[in-house]
Amino acid sequence: MMLDAILERHSVRKYLDREIEKEKVELLLEKTEELNKKSGLSIQLAVNEPQAFGGLLGSYGMLSGVKNYFALVGKDTDRLSELCGYYGELLVLEAQKMGLNTCWVAGTYQKNKTVCEIASDERLVCVIALGYGENSGKPHKGKSIEKLYKCDGEAPEWFIKGVESASLAPTALNQQRFVFEYSDGKVYAKSLGGFYSDIDLGIVKCHFELASGHKAD
Ligand SMILES: Cc1cc2nc3c(=O)[nH]c(=O)nc-3n(C[C@H](O)[C@H](O)[C@H](O)COP(=O)(O)O)c2cc1C
Repeated sequence: MMLDAILERHSVRKYLDREIEKEKVELLLEKTEELNKKSGLSIQLAVNEPQAFGGLLGSYGMLSGVKNYFALVGKDTDRLSELCGYYGELLVLEAQKMGLNTCWVAGTYQKNKTVCEIASDERLVCVIALGYGENSGKPHKGKSIEKLYKCDGEAPEWFIKGVESASLAPTALNQQRFVFEYSDGKVYAKSLGGFYSDIDLGIVKCHFELASGHKAD
């Protein structure tokens, strides 16, 4: 279940020297292709390619042992970062369901050593480290739910569920610079700015929609 995966997911930065089984790689490749077709993105999975994280036995930033990652690539439009957030998080949750760990990485990796194809009208937005972690990470303290939404009148139960789920989503520097608004039966998700907050917006919309069953504009 995606909702279990949302609860179980935490950023993991230290990885074991353990290969991802072929069958799991196959499933992730299939899922990636499916989501690329749907979104128009060109997300790519790099397996056994440690260079972007300091090479074999290497470490980079707070990450170590990273040998696999999704490279989030797509046409360089205004919506690219948000799209990468949304579809990348679906891949994160798929990986979590398979017992794999992940970490979104926009800063602490070597962009020029990232193994992926980028067409002339495309851009690499960030990567998602992937593999078997030394542990499964731990929950982090976030903002209280009340700080993450606005509504006139009483909010429906599904809306609150969606916001709760969004509060568990990864955001850059754990900044949680977003707010969901409920107005006239519609949901609007807004970014409050900050580093990589467009990627964050796509990620939190993904969580909101999975948990609430409603779209956020
Ligand atoms: C867009 C984005 C970029 C991130 N970039 C980095 C990074 O460069 N280095 C890093 O160690 N963690 C990075 N993170 C991970 C966040 O620090 C982490 O998601 C946040 O602290 C919340 O912790 P949690 O994912 O365990 O819930 C990034 C997360 C997001 C969503």
